[in-house]
Amino acid sequence: MEAIRVEGGRAITGEVTVEGAKNSALKLMAATIMAPGVNTLTNVPNIADVHVMGKVLKRLGASIAVEDEHTLRIDTSAVDKWETPYQLVAQMRASTAVLGPLLARFGKAVVAMPGGCNIGARKIDMHILGLEALGVKFDIDHGNIHASTPNGLIGATVTLDFASVGATENLMMASVHAKGTTTIDNAAREPEIVDLANLLNEMGANIKGAGSPVIEIEGTEGPLHPVTHRTVGDRIEAGTFVAMGGLVGGPVTVRGFDPRHLGLVLKKYELMGLDIERLPDGVTVSRARPLTPTDIQTLPFPGFPTDMQAQTMCLLALAGGSCVVTENVFENRFMFASELQRMGASITIEGHHAIVHGVPGFSGAEVKAPDLRGGAALVMAGLVADGYTTVSDIHHIDRGYERFVEKLDALGAAVDRVEIPGPVDVTEL
Ligand code: UD1
Repeated sequence: MEAIRVEGGRAITGEVTVEGAKNSALKLMAATIMAPGVNTLTNVPNIADVHVMGKVLKRLGASIAVEDEHTLRIDTSAVDKWETPYQLVAQMRASTAVLGPLLARFGKAVVAMPGGCNIGARKIDMHILGLEALGVKFDIDHGNIHASTPNGLIGATVTLDFASVGATENLMMASVHAKGTTTIDNAAREPEIVDLANLLNEMGANIKGAGSPVIEIEGTEGPLHPVTHRTVGDRIEAGTFVAMGGLVGGPVTVRGFDPRHLGLVLKKYELMGLDIERLPDGVTVSRARPLTPTDIQTLPFPGFPTDMQAQTMCLLALAGGSCVVTENVFENRFMFASELQRMGASITIEGHHAIVHGVPGFSGAEVKAPDLRGGAALVMAGLVADGYTTVSDIHHIDRGYERFVEKLDALGAAVDRVEIPGPVDVTEL
């Protein structure tokens, strides 16, 4: 099986450009269902999750032409199905993003209950409760969610229990043609929500307030029209390279994203001892001082992103003292910590708190990527570890990072994809 092998101790310096945001591109692709015709999406990352979403759209009847590596022409004029099978939804939870667009276009949808990244329960009850308020009826059988709209979609006020990204997106898309006004209260405010609202408005929708906690959607009649749209830069890919530059010392310039989308991360990193220069399209990071422990708690945007928690814990694990990392978004997102402990980190988990005691260094080890961001953070730890670190289960990393190894190699890291033996067959022992 394939793994990523890193030799620790090399300097990394230079410039890296991030791709379009995975978490935006997937939803933009789903939204093209609502605009029959040829939609062109640019700055789309060439990653496994995008390929899965491509398969989802093709199963529904869309055709996709890859104009160049990052430009997709998605023709949704012939979409005539509204069912997304378990084989695809199980590969990627974000496949459920087609629920809203299918309801908007056909008034019905069948979507398998999600599986996806192994980071907690990841329920979709808020999507369902919100859509029910708009008049959607749900039946759940044999692992599938059957959604229908016997009386059409009718605008309503939906107050979310938690500012869920996925629920906000599905509600925003489903309500585009609802009768009257829909208000999403306690809406998620992530830059990817704003990108999706911009796309829908360019297509002819009437959405106001995206990026604030209250989003208002005025229902419009008739289908939306196809457009060309550029995906927002990936703040999490960017944050990962910023964390790496800060860990090793840099200077590393990370371009292709808006530094305001990493506001609190950059502020916390400055408190931890990183030097950060903000540029119009990125940042330059370096570090000349020891790392300082700093408490972190993850929260919906503009709070500290859960998707930057593992990379940040990797920095804190080498800080000169102790601090607490609190995970408020996903319940099961500390699996990375136990792998990092195999490399010498000292971390105690107490419920959704991790108490991180800084150690002087990591020692290279064989470790397993527990999920997408945890996998990237283990490669990051390998950059400064003593000797070699081999990270297996790298399909998690390939889901969300394009040319991860190549980009690190270009910065000067000693990193390769290698073949390693698979798990031992215990029946033969
Ligand atoms: C998206 C991102 C993911 C990021 C997360 C939070 C994509 C493809 N993924 O995931 O990378 O980490 O936002 O920024 O965009 N919840 C419920 N019921 C629901 C919906 C959510 O209990 O109906 C819970 C989840 O289990 C989780 C929390 O709410 O604990 C946040 O989930 P949500 O914001 O919806 O994240 P996703 O959209 O799944």
